[in-house]
Amino acid sequence: MTTTQTHHVQQSAEVNSDGYREFALGEFTFRRDEFFVYIGWPTGEHMMSADAFLRALQRDVAWDFFYGIVNFDGVFGTLNHYGTVDIFAGRFNESYRKAELDYSETMETPQIRATFEAILDDWTNESFDPFASPHETGSAFGLKNGNNTAAVTRQRVAAARMVGVPGDEQVRDDASGYPINRMFADVDQSEPVVEAEPGFESEVAAFSLFAYLSRSNVTWNPSVVSVCKDSLACPTTEEYLLPIIHGNDRVEWFVQLSDQITWEVEDRDTGAVRARVTMRAGDVSAMPADIRHQGYSPKRSMLLVWENNSEKIPEAIASGQAPTYPIEF
Ligand code: PHB
Ligand code: FE
Repeated sequence: MTTTQTHHVQQSAEVNSDGYREFALGEFTFRRDEFFVYIGWPTGEHMMSADAFLRALQRDVAWDFFYGIVNFDGVFGTLNHYGTVDIFAGRFNESYRKAELDYSETMETPQIRATFEAILDDWTNESFDPFASPHETGSAFGLKNGNNTAAVTRQRVAAARMVGVPGDEQVRDDASGYPINRMFADVDQSEPVVEAEPGFESEVAAFSLFAYLSRSNVTWNPSVVSVCKDSLACPTTEEYLLPIIHGNDRVEWFVQLSDQITWEVEDRDTGAVRARVTMRAGDVSAMPADIRHQGYSPKRSMLLVWENNSEKIPEAIASGQAPTYPIEF
């Protein structure tokens, strides 16, 4: 293909017959048509449905390649080394590995970031919001039709200390412009009353996490509502499928705050099935550091993801210094 180089992005100068640009990243190539995305690499080619691809790509971009592995499906994905990112096909798929069809390349993070952002923007039509529940957005399919840059460049909400403390992001009332989601119409909106001692008004805060989450207009996009050293409380609202299969490089805890999510848990490296975990409101689980998982949420639900953000953990676990599970009973 004829390519131009802008901010490290290799993209075709011309659009294809369906109106979409084609991209290259190392030896990987990317193109889409009305229904599908086609990913090529030296030893193979892979197809994904355009909606599933864009939903996964949206998370990978917004989370800056996240913790560990973001599998778009059982074949294609990214592995974060926090500075560089591996882009791979078949690397965590036992059949691809046995057939020696797996392929992987290491990219500088700014290069893959710029390319993924450009693909996401070019391939998302104005009718589609990849962060929204499928019930709350239009179609991803068809010929190229406008764009939805405002939606695909949304920043995740991240507090520096705790939501509600002066100066932090507050998405907590009608004035915020975030209406209560249709599925959370029954969530009590009353806020706790805080009676701080004089002088401590800016340091003591409380808010209703349920009311806060009831206004989330995205799905499967953890926000950060409190930060205490490396301990991050990342609640999120979920509906339909987690658009990625997340391969952990550390333990993460889930607290199911409302409704129900079923987790399909597989071996991180081979994809072999390990467990199916159904979590109901009030259930708590710890996902081990050697698995990958995908959540299924039949009704919009609230989930608290608790992450240890320490940069030392992946190496401690990979080298066997720290266990892959959090607790010995
Ligand atoms: C996860 O991979 O653990 C994860 C990602 C996004 C969510 C929830 C859980 O919304
Ligand atoms: Fe995860």
